[in-house]
Amino acid sequence: MAHPRFGDIAACVFDAYGTLFDYNAAAGRHVAALGDKAAPLAELWRHKQLQYTWLRSLMGRYTGFWQVTGDALDFSMGELGIEDDALRARLMEAYRTLDAYPEVRETLATLRAHGLRTAILSNGEPGMLEAAVDAAGIGDSLDAVLSVEEVGIFKPHPSVYQLVVDRLGVPPAKVSFQSSNAWDANGAAAFGFRVAWCNRFGQGQERIPSAPDAEIKTLAELPPLLGIA
Ligand code: LAC
Repeated sequence: MAHPRFGDIAACVFDAYGTLFDYNAAAGRHVAALGDKAAPLAELWRHKQLQYTWLRSLMGRYTGFWQVTGDALDFSMGELGIEDDALRARLMEAYRTLDAYPEVRETLATLRAHGLRTAILSNGEPGMLEAAVDAAGIGDSLDAVLSVEEVGIFKPHPSVYQLVVDRLGVPPAKVSFQSSNAWDANGAAAFGFRVAWCNRFGQGQERIPSAPDAEIKTLAELPPLLGIA
């Protein structure tokens, strides 16, 4: 039996970084060089990356997510006293080919096998998303890869979520949106999607408007939520 809020879903749309792709893998692959700074760097890098998306959106100064990611890495390396251009280049390269979380491939294949459409909706710019999708080998299980680049502003601006409606031709109430980011989950729910917050990191609920319809721990819990075995 499907969850009552997820009974009439036509498309499943996923956030990319942190939801399908493990952004901690970039620093994780360079633990030998980073030592005990690997974990703090990964955390600060992500924190600043998101903060810069929100700040740039408020400033009306959009630039691609690759630039934002690099700016956030530069800030974070500076804060932690890491001066190493070659390591910076390797960390950025690793960000292009992050690992997918273990359940991602099978979950997408299951959804598609049951006639659901699947898509990514991400802050990532198209080239980054294409590289990540290719590295994870999930291109065959996706109907669309949608980037904020088309609207020139970052999540959680409503025009970003509107892209799904416009490009997939499905009304918001027939979209199940999955994000590990609590703020993205709230943003998508405020827009009108059905939202499953994939709370991989055991985060707390954000105190901003709206709320997800369901909370799951990994994407493997999505098919049962939709009433699929
Ligand atoms: C994304 C970020 C928010 O993929 O994780 O859009």
